[in-house]
Amino acid sequence: MMTVNVRASKEYNVEIGDGIISRLGEMTKAVCPKAIKALIVSETNVAALYLDAVKAQLEGAGLEVAAYVFEAGEKSKNINEIAGMWNKMAEAGFTRTDIVVGLGGGVTTDMAGFAAATFLRGIDVIQVPTSLLAMVDASVGGKTGIDIPMGKNQVGAFWQPSLVLEDTSFLKTLPDDVFTEGMGEVTKYAFIMDEKLLDLLEKQNGNIRDDAAVLENVIGMCVADKAEIINEDETDNGRRQILNFGHTAGHVIERDSGFTKPHGICVAKGMGIFMDACVKAGTLSAEDAKRMKDLLAMYKLPASDEITAEDIVKGAMNDKKKRGNTLSVILVNKIGKAEIKKMTAEEFLKFLSV
Ligand SMILES: NC(=O)c1ccc[n+]([C@@H]2O[C@H](COP(=O)([O-])OP(=O)(O)OC[C@H]3O[C@@H](n4cnc5c(N)ncnc54)[C@H](O)[C@@H]3O)[C@@H](O)[C@H]2O)c1
Ligand SMILES: [Zn+2]
Repeated sequence: MMTVNVRASKEYNVEIGDGIISRLGEMTKAVCPKAIKALIVSETNVAALYLDAVKAQLEGAGLEVAAYVFEAGEKSKNINEIAGMWNKMAEAGFTRTDIVVGLGGGVTTDMAGFAAATFLRGIDVIQVPTSLLAMVDASVGGKTGIDIPMGKNQVGAFWQPSLVLEDTSFLKTLPDDVFTEGMGEVTKYAFIMDEKLLDLLEKQNGNIRDDAAVLENVIGMCVADKAEIINEDETDNGRRQILNFGHTAGHVIERDSGFTKPHGICVAKGMGIFMDACVKAGTLSAEDAKRMKDLLAMYKLPASDEITAEDIVKGAMNDKKKRGNTLSVILVNKIGKAEIKKMTAEEFLKFLSV
Protein backbone atom coordinates (compact mmCIF):
# COMPACT_ATOMS: atom_id res chain seq x y z
CA MET A 1 0.00 0.00 0.00
CA MET A 2 1.17 3.48 -0.83
CA THR A 3 -0.02 6.97 0.03
CA VAL A 4 0.63 10.08 -2.06
CA ASN A 5 -0.28 13.34 -0.39
CA VAL A 6 -1.55 16.15 -2.63
CA ARG A 7 -1.30 19.71 -1.34
CA ALA A 8 -3.30 21.79 -3.76
CA SER A 9 -5.93 24.37 -2.67
CA LYS A 10 -7.19 21.39 -0.72
CA GLU A 11 -5.02 18.71 0.84
CA TYR A 12 -5.90 15.06 0.29
CA ASN A 13 -4.42 11.61 -0.04
CA VAL A 14 -4.27 9.22 -2.94
CA GLU A 15 -4.25 5.71 -1.47
CA ILE A 16 -2.98 3.00 -3.78
CA GLY A 17 -3.01 -0.74 -3.12
CA ASP A 18 -4.06 -4.21 -4.12
CA GLY A 19 -7.41 -4.90 -2.43
CA ILE A 20 -7.58 -1.46 -0.82
CA ILE A 21 -11.30 -1.19 -1.58
CA SER A 22 -11.81 -2.98 1.74
CA ARG A 23 -10.81 0.28 3.43
CA LEU A 24 -13.12 2.63 1.51
CA GLY A 25 -15.78 2.78 4.25
CA GLU A 26 -13.36 3.58 7.02
CA MET A 27 -11.44 6.13 4.96
CA THR A 28 -14.62 7.84 3.78
CA LYS A 29 -15.72 8.32 7.37
CA ALA A 30 -12.34 9.75 8.22
CA VAL A 31 -12.31 12.39 5.46
CA CYS A 32 -16.05 13.18 5.38
CA PRO A 33 -17.19 12.59 8.97
CA LYS A 34 -20.40 14.60 8.58
CA ALA A 35 -21.67 12.78 5.49
CA ILE A 36 -24.94 10.92 5.85
CA LYS A 37 -25.67 10.17 2.20
CA ALA A 38 -23.50 9.14 -0.73
CA LEU A 39 -24.25 9.03 -4.44
CA ILE A 40 -22.14 6.50 -6.30
CA VAL A 41 -21.66 7.65 -9.90
CA SER A 42 -20.68 4.79 -12.18
CA GLU A 43 -21.25 3.32 -15.63
CA THR A 44 -22.65 0.05 -16.93
CA ASN A 45 -19.40 -1.90 -17.43
CA VAL A 46 -17.80 -0.96 -14.13
CA ALA A 47 -21.00 -1.08 -12.07
CA ALA A 48 -21.57 -4.69 -13.13
CA LEU A 49 -18.19 -5.58 -11.64
CA TYR A 50 -17.66 -3.35 -8.64
CA LEU A 51 -20.79 -1.44 -7.61
CA ASP A 52 -21.85 -4.00 -4.99
CA ALA A 53 -18.46 -3.98 -3.28
CA VAL A 54 -18.33 -0.19 -3.15
CA LYS A 55 -21.92 0.05 -1.95
CA ALA A 56 -21.26 -2.49 0.80
CA GLN A 57 -18.25 -0.50 2.00
CA LEU A 58 -20.17 2.76 2.20
CA GLU A 59 -23.19 1.14 3.84
CA GLY A 60 -20.88 -0.60 6.24
CA ALA A 61 -19.66 2.86 7.26
CA GLY A 62 -23.26 3.84 8.03
CA LEU A 63 -23.98 5.87 4.90
CA GLU A 64 -27.29 5.90 3.01
CA VAL A 65 -26.26 5.01 -0.53
CA ALA A 66 -27.86 5.86 -3.88
CA ALA A 67 -26.38 5.03 -7.28
CA TYR A 68 -26.46 6.75 -10.65
CA VAL A 69 -25.31 4.41 -13.41
CA PHE A 70 -24.93 5.73 -16.97
CA GLU A 71 -24.04 3.93 -20.16
CA ALA A 72 -20.27 3.34 -20.45
CA GLY A 73 -18.39 5.49 -22.95
CA GLU A 74 -17.33 9.03 -23.80
CA LYS A 75 -20.73 9.62 -25.48
CA SER A 76 -22.28 9.80 -22.03
CA LYS A 77 -19.99 12.60 -20.88
CA ASN A 78 -22.62 15.28 -21.33
CA ILE A 79 -24.85 17.67 -19.44
CA ASN A 80 -27.92 15.39 -19.51
CA GLU A 81 -26.16 12.80 -17.39
CA ILE A 82 -24.97 15.52 -15.00
CA ALA A 83 -28.56 16.75 -14.68
CA GLY A 84 -29.57 13.18 -13.89
CA MET A 85 -27.06 13.12 -11.05
CA TRP A 86 -28.22 16.51 -9.69
CA ASN A 87 -31.84 15.31 -9.74
CA LYS A 88 -31.00 12.05 -8.05
CA MET A 89 -29.24 13.91 -5.23
CA ALA A 90 -32.03 16.47 -4.90
CA GLU A 91 -34.69 13.75 -4.75
CA ALA A 92 -32.76 11.91 -2.08
CA GLY A 93 -32.48 15.12 -0.02
CA PHE A 94 -28.70 15.55 -0.21
CA THR A 95 -27.26 18.46 1.79
CA ARG A 96 -23.92 20.29 1.62
CA THR A 97 -22.22 17.69 3.81
CA ASP A 98 -23.23 14.67 1.71
CA ILE A 99 -20.89 13.21 -0.89
CA VAL A 100 -20.40 11.87 -4.40
CA VAL A 101 -18.27 8.78 -5.04
CA GLY A 102 -16.95 8.38 -8.59
CA LEU A 103 -16.41 4.72 -9.53
CA GLY A 104 -15.02 4.14 -13.01
CA GLY A 105 -12.59 5.32 -15.65
CA GLY A 106 -11.80 8.91 -16.55
CA VAL A 107 -15.21 9.53 -18.07
CA THR A 108 -16.79 8.68 -14.72
CA THR A 109 -14.34 10.50 -12.47
CA ASP A 110 -14.57 13.65 -14.64
CA MET A 111 -18.38 13.58 -14.43
CA ALA A 112 -18.65 12.62 -10.77
CA GLY A 113 -16.26 15.47 -9.96
CA PHE A 114 -18.25 17.95 -12.03
CA ALA A 115 -21.57 16.90 -10.51
CA ALA A 116 -20.04 17.33 -7.04
CA ALA A 117 -18.48 20.69 -7.96
CA THR A 118 -21.82 22.09 -9.07
CA PHE A 119 -24.45 20.52 -6.79
CA LEU A 120 -25.37 22.98 -4.01
CA ARG A 121 -22.35 25.02 -5.20
CA GLY A 122 -20.00 22.21 -4.32
CA ILE A 123 -20.02 19.05 -2.20
CA ASP A 124 -17.22 16.60 -1.47
CA VAL A 125 -16.21 13.94 -3.95
CA ILE A 126 -14.25 10.74 -3.40
CA GLN A 127 -12.73 9.20 -6.50
CA VAL A 128 -12.39 5.45 -6.98
CA PRO A 129 -10.72 5.19 -10.39
CA THR A 130 -10.86 1.82 -12.15
CA SER A 131 -8.88 2.34 -15.38
CA LEU A 132 -5.11 2.82 -15.60
CA LEU A 133 -5.61 6.25 -17.18
CA ALA A 134 -7.95 7.36 -14.41
CA MET A 135 -5.56 6.07 -11.72
CA VAL A 136 -2.45 7.82 -13.05
CA ASP A 137 -4.08 10.92 -14.46
CA ALA A 138 -7.80 11.78 -14.55
CA SER A 139 -8.76 11.17 -10.91
CA VAL A 140 -5.87 13.20 -9.48
CA GLY A 141 -5.56 16.97 -9.77
CA GLY A 142 -9.11 18.23 -9.70
CA LYS A 143 -9.90 18.83 -13.35
CA THR A 144 -13.53 17.84 -13.84
CA GLY A 145 -15.93 18.35 -16.70
CA ILE A 146 -17.99 17.25 -19.66
CA ASP A 147 -17.99 17.45 -23.45
CA ILE A 148 -20.22 19.66 -25.58
CA PRO A 149 -20.87 19.18 -29.32
CA MET A 150 -18.18 21.78 -30.13
CA GLY A 151 -15.47 19.96 -28.23
CA LYS A 152 -14.21 17.65 -25.53
CA ASN A 153 -13.86 18.90 -21.94
CA GLN A 154 -15.13 22.36 -22.91
CA VAL A 155 -17.20 22.82 -19.75
CA GLY A 156 -15.93 22.03 -16.29
CA ALA A 157 -14.51 23.12 -12.99
CA PHE A 158 -11.40 22.69 -10.91
CA TRP A 159 -12.67 20.66 -7.97
CA GLN A 160 -10.26 18.67 -5.86
CA PRO A 161 -11.42 15.37 -4.37
CA SER A 162 -11.34 14.62 -0.63
CA LEU A 163 -9.78 11.23 -1.21
CA VAL A 164 -8.69 9.12 -4.17
CA LEU A 165 -8.73 5.39 -3.50
CA GLU A 166 -7.03 3.27 -6.16
CA ASP A 167 -7.51 -0.49 -5.89
CA THR A 168 -5.01 -1.87 -8.39
CA SER A 169 -6.75 -5.27 -8.38
CA PHE A 170 -9.58 -3.60 -10.35
CA LEU A 171 -7.21 -3.42 -13.31
CA LYS A 172 -7.40 -7.20 -13.73
CA THR A 173 -10.67 -6.80 -15.60
CA LEU A 174 -9.54 -3.86 -17.74
CA PRO A 175 -9.43 -4.86 -21.44
CA ASP A 176 -5.87 -5.12 -22.84
CA ASP A 177 -6.30 -2.30 -25.35
CA VAL A 178 -7.62 0.06 -22.67
CA PHE A 179 -4.63 -0.81 -20.48
CA THR A 180 -2.25 -0.09 -23.37
CA GLU A 181 -3.91 3.27 -23.87
CA GLY A 182 -3.24 4.14 -20.25
CA MET A 183 0.42 3.35 -20.86
CA GLY A 184 0.50 6.38 -23.18
CA GLU A 185 0.17 8.61 -20.11
CA VAL A 186 2.45 6.42 -17.96
CA THR A 187 5.31 6.69 -20.48
CA LYS A 188 4.63 10.42 -20.71
CA TYR A 189 5.52 10.88 -17.01
CA ALA A 190 8.72 8.90 -17.59
CA PHE A 191 9.71 11.15 -20.50
CA ILE A 192 8.83 14.55 -19.03
CA MET A 193 10.06 14.14 -15.48
CA ASP A 194 10.91 10.66 -14.26
CA GLU A 195 13.91 8.76 -15.53
CA LYS A 196 13.62 6.29 -12.64
CA LEU A 197 10.18 5.33 -13.92
CA LEU A 198 11.67 4.91 -17.37
CA ASP A 199 14.35 2.59 -15.95
CA LEU A 200 11.68 0.50 -14.21
CA LEU A 201 9.49 0.29 -17.31
CA GLU A 202 12.48 -0.80 -19.38
CA LYS A 203 13.36 -3.43 -16.81
CA GLN A 204 9.79 -4.76 -16.93
CA ASN A 205 10.17 -5.23 -20.67
CA GLY A 206 6.57 -4.49 -21.64
CA ASN A 207 4.77 -6.12 -18.74
CA ILE A 208 3.74 -4.28 -15.60
CA ARG A 209 0.38 -6.02 -15.24
CA ASP A 210 1.19 -9.40 -13.81
CA ASP A 211 3.13 -8.40 -10.71
CA ALA A 212 0.94 -6.56 -8.19
CA ALA A 213 3.91 -4.93 -6.47
CA VAL A 214 5.32 -3.58 -9.73
CA LEU A 215 1.92 -2.31 -10.82
CA GLU A 216 1.41 -0.50 -7.54
CA ASN A 217 4.89 0.96 -7.76
CA VAL A 218 4.45 2.25 -11.31
CA ILE A 219 1.07 3.80 -10.53
CA GLY A 220 2.43 5.32 -7.35
CA MET A 221 5.34 6.90 -9.21
CA CYS A 222 2.98 8.45 -11.77
CA VAL A 223 0.64 9.77 -9.08
CA ALA A 224 3.59 11.23 -7.16
CA ASP A 225 4.76 12.94 -10.35
CA LYS A 226 1.34 14.40 -11.00
CA ALA A 227 0.99 15.49 -7.37
CA GLU A 228 4.35 17.28 -7.53
CA ILE A 229 3.11 19.28 -10.50
CA ILE A 230 -0.35 20.01 -9.05
CA ASN A 231 1.21 21.23 -5.82
CA GLU A 232 3.14 23.79 -7.82
CA ASP A 233 0.53 24.78 -10.40
CA GLU A 234 -3.02 23.65 -9.72
CA THR A 235 -4.75 25.61 -12.46
CA ASP A 236 -2.56 25.01 -15.49
CA ASN A 237 -0.94 28.42 -15.81
CA GLY A 238 2.63 27.26 -15.55
CA ARG A 239 4.39 23.97 -14.97
CA ARG A 240 1.21 21.86 -15.19
CA GLN A 241 1.37 22.46 -18.92
CA ILE A 242 4.22 19.94 -19.24
CA LEU A 243 1.56 17.26 -18.74
CA ASN A 244 0.45 18.22 -22.24
CA PHE A 245 3.55 16.65 -23.80
CA GLY A 246 2.33 14.71 -26.82
CA HIS A 247 -1.10 16.26 -26.51
CA THR A 248 -0.66 19.24 -28.86
CA ALA A 249 -0.31 16.96 -31.87
CA GLY A 250 -2.18 14.08 -30.20
CA HIS A 251 -5.38 16.06 -29.76
CA VAL A 252 -5.39 17.04 -33.42
CA ILE A 253 -4.94 13.42 -34.50
CA GLU A 254 -7.68 12.36 -32.10
CA ARG A 255 -10.10 15.02 -33.33
CA ASP A 256 -9.33 14.37 -37.01
CA SER A 257 -10.24 10.72 -36.48
CA GLY A 258 -13.64 11.80 -35.18
CA PHE A 259 -12.50 10.47 -31.77
CA THR A 260 -12.29 6.91 -33.11
CA LYS A 261 -8.56 6.70 -32.32
CA PRO A 262 -8.04 6.29 -28.56
CA HIS A 263 -6.60 9.23 -26.61
CA GLY A 264 -3.55 7.43 -25.17
CA ILE A 265 -2.57 6.11 -28.60
CA CYS A 266 -2.81 9.60 -30.10
CA VAL A 267 -0.71 11.01 -27.25
CA ALA A 268 1.98 8.40 -27.98
CA LYS A 269 1.96 9.38 -31.65
CA GLY A 270 2.17 13.05 -30.68
CA MET A 271 5.15 12.35 -28.40
CA GLY A 272 6.91 10.46 -31.19
CA ILE A 273 6.32 13.29 -33.69
CA PHE A 274 7.81 15.79 -31.25
CA MET A 275 10.81 13.57 -30.54
CA ASP A 276 11.58 13.48 -34.27
CA ALA A 277 11.24 17.26 -34.51
CA CYS A 278 13.52 17.83 -31.52
CA VAL A 279 16.16 15.49 -32.95
CA LYS A 280 16.01 17.27 -36.30
CA ALA A 281 16.25 20.63 -34.55
CA GLY A 282 19.38 19.33 -32.84
CA THR A 283 18.03 19.80 -29.30
CA LEU A 284 17.42 16.11 -28.45
CA SER A 285 20.07 13.44 -28.91
CA ALA A 286 19.28 10.58 -31.28
CA GLU A 287 20.24 8.27 -28.44
CA ASP A 288 17.62 9.65 -26.02
CA ALA A 289 14.98 9.65 -28.76
CA LYS A 290 15.71 6.03 -29.56
CA ARG A 291 15.45 5.05 -25.91
CA MET A 292 12.06 6.74 -25.61
CA LYS A 293 10.72 5.33 -28.86
CA ASP A 294 11.93 1.85 -27.93
CA LEU A 295 9.98 2.18 -24.70
CA LEU A 296 6.80 3.11 -26.59
CA ALA A 297 7.26 0.09 -28.85
CA MET A 298 7.94 -2.15 -25.84
CA TYR A 299 4.51 -1.20 -24.49
CA LYS A 300 2.84 -1.61 -27.89
CA LEU A 301 2.41 2.11 -28.48
CA PRO A 302 2.92 3.85 -31.85
CA ALA A 303 5.35 6.76 -32.27
CA SER A 304 4.27 8.29 -35.58
CA ASP A 305 1.27 9.18 -37.71
CA GLU A 306 0.44 10.09 -41.30
CA ILE A 307 -0.76 13.57 -40.33
CA THR A 308 1.03 16.51 -41.97
CA ALA A 309 2.80 19.32 -40.12
CA GLU A 310 0.32 21.80 -41.66
CA ASP A 311 -2.65 19.90 -40.28
CA ILE A 312 -1.12 19.68 -36.82
CA VAL A 313 -0.49 23.43 -36.75
CA LYS A 314 -3.95 24.28 -38.11
CA GLY A 315 -5.63 21.99 -35.61
CA ALA A 316 -3.50 23.15 -32.69
CA MET A 317 -4.24 26.81 -33.37
CA ASN A 318 -7.94 26.03 -32.78
CA ASP A 319 -7.29 24.21 -29.54
CA LYS A 320 -8.69 25.61 -26.32
CA LYS A 321 -5.25 25.34 -24.69
CA LYS A 322 -3.98 28.06 -27.01
CA ARG A 323 -3.44 31.47 -25.41
CA GLY A 324 -3.48 34.45 -27.77
CA ASN A 325 -1.51 34.04 -30.98
CA THR A 326 1.15 31.82 -29.53
CA LEU A 327 1.06 28.19 -28.52
CA SER A 328 2.69 26.67 -25.50
CA VAL A 329 4.57 23.76 -26.98
CA ILE A 330 6.02 21.12 -24.68
CA LEU A 331 9.42 19.78 -25.61
CA VAL A 332 11.55 17.04 -24.12
CA ASN A 333 15.16 17.72 -25.00
CA LYS A 334 16.59 15.29 -22.50
CA ILE A 335 14.96 12.28 -20.87
CA GLY A 336 13.19 13.38 -17.71
CA LYS A 337 13.28 17.10 -18.53
CA ALA A 338 10.40 18.90 -20.20
CA GLU A 339 10.42 22.49 -21.38
CA ILE A 340 7.56 24.84 -22.17
CA LYS A 341 8.24 26.92 -25.27
CA LYS A 342 6.01 29.59 -26.71
CA MET A 343 5.79 29.45 -30.50
CA THR A 344 3.83 31.33 -33.11
CA ALA A 345 2.05 29.29 -35.79
CA GLU A 346 4.95 30.00 -38.17
CA GLU A 347 7.57 28.91 -35.65
CA PHE A 348 5.58 25.78 -34.82
CA LEU A 349 5.26 24.85 -38.48
CA LYS A 350 8.98 25.37 -38.97
CA PHE A 351 9.74 23.23 -35.91
CA LEU A 352 7.60 20.37 -37.22
CA SER A 353 8.82 20.63 -40.81
CA VAL A 354 12.59 20.79 -40.25
N1 LIG B 1 -9.49 15.20 -15.44
C1 LIG B 1 -8.32 14.95 -15.99
O1 LIG B 1 -7.29 15.47 -15.55
C2 LIG B 1 -8.25 13.98 -17.12
C3 LIG B 1 -7.01 13.53 -17.55
C4 LIG B 1 -6.96 12.60 -18.58
C5 LIG B 1 -8.14 12.13 -19.14
N2 LIG B 1 -9.34 12.59 -18.70
C6 LIG B 1 -10.60 12.09 -19.26
O2 LIG B 1 -10.67 10.70 -19.02
C7 LIG B 1 -11.47 10.08 -20.02
C8 LIG B 1 -10.80 8.83 -20.49
O3 LIG B 1 -10.65 7.95 -19.40
P1 LIG B 1 -10.63 6.38 -19.60
O4 LIG B 1 -9.65 6.03 -20.63
O5 LIG B 1 -10.53 5.79 -18.25
O6 LIG B 1 -12.05 6.12 -20.26
P2 LIG B 1 -13.38 5.39 -19.74
O7 LIG B 1 -13.83 5.96 -18.46
O8 LIG B 1 -14.34 5.44 -20.87
O9 LIG B 1 -12.92 3.89 -19.51
C9 LIG B 1 -12.40 3.17 -20.60
C10 LIG B 1 -13.12 1.83 -20.78
O10 LIG B 1 -12.70 0.94 -19.76
C11 LIG B 1 -13.82 0.38 -19.08
N3 LIG B 1 -13.36 0.13 -17.72
C12 LIG B 1 -12.90 1.04 -16.82
N4 LIG B 1 -12.45 0.42 -15.72
C13 LIG B 1 -12.64 -0.90 -15.91
C14 LIG B 1 -12.33 -2.06 -15.15
N5 LIG B 1 -11.70 -1.98 -13.97
N6 LIG B 1 -12.67 -3.26 -15.65
C15 LIG B 1 -13.25 -3.37 -16.87
N7 LIG B 1 -13.53 -2.31 -17.65
C16 LIG B 1 -13.23 -1.10 -17.18
C17 LIG B 1 -14.89 1.41 -19.22
O11 LIG B 1 -16.16 0.85 -19.08
C18 LIG B 1 -14.65 1.91 -20.65
O12 LIG B 1 -15.22 1.03 -21.57
C19 LIG B 1 -11.68 11.13 -21.10
O13 LIG B 1 -12.99 11.60 -21.02
C20 LIG B 1 -10.69 12.22 -20.73
O14 LIG B 1 -11.14 13.49 -21.13
C21 LIG B 1 -9.40 13.50 -17.69
ZN1 LIG C 1 -4.00 12.73 -21.82
